[in-house]
Amino acid sequence: MGAGVTRPRSVRDADVEGKRVLVRADLNVPLEEGRVADDTRIRGALTTLQWLLEQGAAEVRVCSHLGRPKGPDPRYAMRPVEERLRELLPDGRIHVLENTRFDPRETQNDEGYARDLARGCDLYVDDAFGSVHRAHASVEAVAHVLPAYAGLLLERELDELGKLLGDVEHPFVLVSGGAKVEDKLGVLQQLGGKADTVLVGGKMAEEMRAENPLDFPVVLPTDVVAAAAFDADAEARVAPYDALPDGWLGLDIGPETRAAFAEHVSRARTIFWNGPMGVFEWPRFAEGTKAVAEAVASARAFSVVGGADSARALTELGLEHSVSWLSTGGGAALELLEGKDLPGVAAIPEA
Ligand code: 3PG
Ligand code: MG
Repeated sequence: MGAGVTRPRSVRDADVEGKRVLVRADLNVPLEEGRVADDTRIRGALTTLQWLLEQGAAEVRVCSHLGRPKGPDPRYAMRPVEERLRELLPDGRIHVLENTRFDPRETQNDEGYARDLARGCDLYVDDAFGSVHRAHASVEAVAHVLPAYAGLLLERELDELGKLLGDVEHPFVLVSGGAKVEDKLGVLQQLGGKADTVLVGGKMAEEMRAENPLDFPVVLPTDVVAAAAFDADAEARVAPYDALPDGWLGLDIGPETRAAFAEHVSRARTIFWNGPMGVFEWPRFAEGTKAVAEAVASARAFSVVGGADSARALTELGLEHSVSWLSTGGGAALELLEGKDLPGVAAIPEA
């Protein structure tokens, strides 16, 4: 594990036989028309759940948030997630609680809500790596109410991502895209000096067209797939990055940029990729993300991919096993790499 990451005590050191266990997982999966569009995070939660059942836990209550509802909202009910989990792990001892964010006390890190969640349980296992950057009741407060342990996925995530904090092999290539630009500038600023090359695509590149707010150079696109509107069927054509038709939007990196990015990635010995290169959910704007996914998957490097969208892109291409580590965390992975304290990890007693 890299410097600065404390090791929380492991569920392996807990006595769970006959116990009722509250597990916080990150089952915040993308939904499409009320169905689970990508189950990477659900599958990620299985290792710990299976282990608890094998150890003889009497009952396993699984809780998670789903989306960002502002209160009870049927569009974000856990039911489709629970159904998928039951298909993957049919066991009557597993119970899935309703979306934690249906209760406003969740995001307030409210102790009363933590007590409600904990009631009837003997211990708490945090396996929600994707949420450890949130000081929310089901992540933080509850860890002070019940004896708290880290789940197996959380431990593995800390180990794999921790490798990027230690000495890495060079060239270290960082690929950054995706939509949450504000969240990502901080980590780029922190990591930029460590990386040899920083490739920027997607919305982040769009926002850097006027100026690069970072204090080091980045590799920006030279061409983009430009669209007349933000629409899957919009009129679109390849345009130079710095000469978009007025009012048009760059919704993907262009063919010249794909080749250039792939070339950089192929020479890397260490890679961290977070965030798609465009609106990959729409097939006409998916080629850039696909090119980066393929380049990362075929590179002879230690490669880490983080974030629900990048994970989904890799999985849809069948490349999820061709990277060194596919992280279930997006924002959490970024904050860990940035060197920030993770409230969900800090709340668990150290090993
Ligand atoms: C994520 O998808 O990044 C995590 O599940 C956290 O979700 P949030 O950004 O809504 O807190
Ligand atoms: Mg997030």
